[in-house]
Amino acid sequence: MIILGIETSCDETAAAIVRDDRTVLSNVLVSQIPGHQPYGGVVPEKAARAHLDSLHPLIEQALRDAQVTLDDLNGIAVTAGPGLIGGVLVGVMTAKAIAAAKNLPFIAVNHLEGHALTGRLTHDLPFPFLLLLISGGHCQFLEVTGVGQYRLLGSTVDDAVGEAFDKVARIFGLSYPGGPALEKLAQSGNGKRFTLPRPLKGRAGCDLSFSGLKTAVRLVAEKHTPLSSQDKADLAASFQEAVADCLEDRALKAFQMTDAPVRHFVVAGGVAANAALRLRLSSLCNAHGFIFVAPPLELCTDNAAMIAWVGIEKLRLGQKDSLDFIPRPRWPLHGKNPGVSLS
Ligand code: KG4
Ligand code: ZN
Repeated sequence: MIILGIETSCDETAAAIVRDDRTVLSNVLVSQIPGHQPYGGVVPEKAARAHLDSLHPLIEQALRDAQVTLDDLNGIAVTAGPGLIGGVLVGVMTAKAIAAAKNLPFIAVNHLEGHALTGRLTHDLPFPFLLLLISGGHCQFLEVTGVGQYRLLGSTVDDAVGEAFDKVARIFGLSYPGGPALEKLAQSGNGKRFTLPRPLKGRAGCDLSFSGLKTAVRLVAEKHTPLSSQDKADLAASFQEAVADCLEDRALKAFQMTDAPVRHFVVAGGVAANAALRLRLSSLCNAHGFIFVAPPLELCTDNAAMIAWVGIEKLRLGQKDSLDFIPRPRWPLHGKNPGVSLS
């Protein structure tokens, strides 16, 4: 089975061809980051127009790189939410058009499920597993028992962790997206120099909170203004260490909250690309008998291979969607029939 995946829900236009033996035949993307950088974040209208310009040639490139044609495909999978609706519409309409023209199954994929199941594309990962999904807009612990089967164990009560990285990066004048730049800055810093809070640490449950930590960084930065480059590196490292401590503490609680016989702990989403956080979470897993799974960096941040993979997982189960499927700007992963079409 060979599936074309399309991703246009945020600031990356992406297309990929994936085979059901877990081979990524092609995986290409055009990042819009330079176009949004002057504004300090993604401008939805600009993003939608950029997706429109980039998507068609990108799909052609994905087919060329994989050395297949539309006639070799067994289905089209596309991010149908959650995300910036203008961009999502561009992807969904394109996917529907190809599916209609070629009479192929159309699979509407939840972007979060793309992140959630990437571990099954890159690793020999059975259900059930415990998932920490950490991206720019989402931050939650989920028990995953099957395709479309998610039980929410805990989530952020304010900012997502990626959002906190981006906001703290802005305090240091680093350009958007701040996560990777902040990680680089932290590498030359002393994470013990500044005392920062660990929100919700030690509390019952596995909810998370990052807004107070971000404010604490801002207050320290204001107190030490003007910041030398070493001050910035030390404060960045102290922030990253506080995040690592919080994730570690909350993950430990999540380990105890699963009902299913879980052996694997999976970290996914853009922030899972952070080496320091990966290291802390993998050590925690080693100490508590969990097998740590994290996708390679390029499959942590947004990509279309993860969307194609969900298409394969769903099609294998006979799940496909109607061409009437209505894209969803909001689409939680957990709850009733999260993976099933409205129509
Ligand atoms: O999954 P993703 O590419 O897009 C969303 O679905 O949100 O995640 C993007 C988020 C951004 O907030 C970005 O700053 C953060 O992931 N991020 C990182 C790193 N790489 C990306 N945060 C910390 N360290 C990184 N290395
Ligand atoms: Zn994402």
